Amino acid sequence: MKMEHLLEDRRGVLDAIYRRRAVRAYAEPQPSDTVIRALLEAAVHAPTAMHAEPWKFIVIQDRAMLKRYSERAKSMMLADVHRHVDHFPGRSERQEHLAMLDDPAFNIFYDASTLIVICCDAVGRFTEADCWLAAQNLMLAAYAENLGTCCIGFAIPVLNASDVKRELGIPESGAAVAPVIVGSARTQPDPVARKAPDILCWLR
Ligand SMILES: Cc1cc2nc3c(=O)[nH]c(=O)nc-3n(C[C@H](O)[C@H](O)[C@H](O)COP(=O)(O)O)c2cc1C
Repeated sequence: MKMEHLLEDRRGVLDAIYRRRAVRAYAEPQPSDTVIRALLEAAVHAPTAMHAEPWKFIVIQDRAMLKRYSERAKSMMLADVHRHVDHFPGRSERQEHLAMLDDPAFNIFYDASTLIVICCDAVGRFTEADCWLAAQNLMLAAYAENLGTCCIGFAIPVLNASDVKRELGIPESGAAVAPVIVGSARTQPDPVARKAPDILCWLR
């Protein structure tokens, strides 16, 4: 491969890393099956401990099902919110969170048409790391396809409820690890500032 192509590829990767944003507003068109397959292909090229490739994928494009999971996730979180008081930096953040969960219009999947859940069929020492790395590949590939994505950690408890696992075909020994919504971004979010890397030590 010529040097110019290598540099172009490198710029493409860095562009995706720096410009990808969590998208929380989606337009109607749903990604095609071909594009979804391309995203899954990118996902399975992630690094994987001991080459275990533990990931399995669930694609949900049934809006009624997503709505049902969203409602259940919200009530599970409401019931749980007081146990996690320490996670909130202040009282106003907690009130805001409670108000969001109480709002019937709030959908934890932001009305995206597609949810991809990266799961494993047996929980191992590195399966979570593998699945989240696959999720990052999937999100960068989606960016390259001009699609928006957002990880939905809020969905993890409901996706791991035993009846939902059965409904989705996740074995008892496995787990839903990384839920990611995908779709056409209605609005492109502004860049989010990041703290500079905090280097604890650099030993030579
Ligand atoms: C493990 C994980 C779980 C997340 N869960 C949610 C979620 O449930 N809902 C949500 O709106 N965003 C969720 N996010 C997105 C983050 O809020 C977002 O990545 C962060 O604010 C940084 O913004 P950026 O992705 O645009 O850089 C999650 C991100 C990660 C990595």
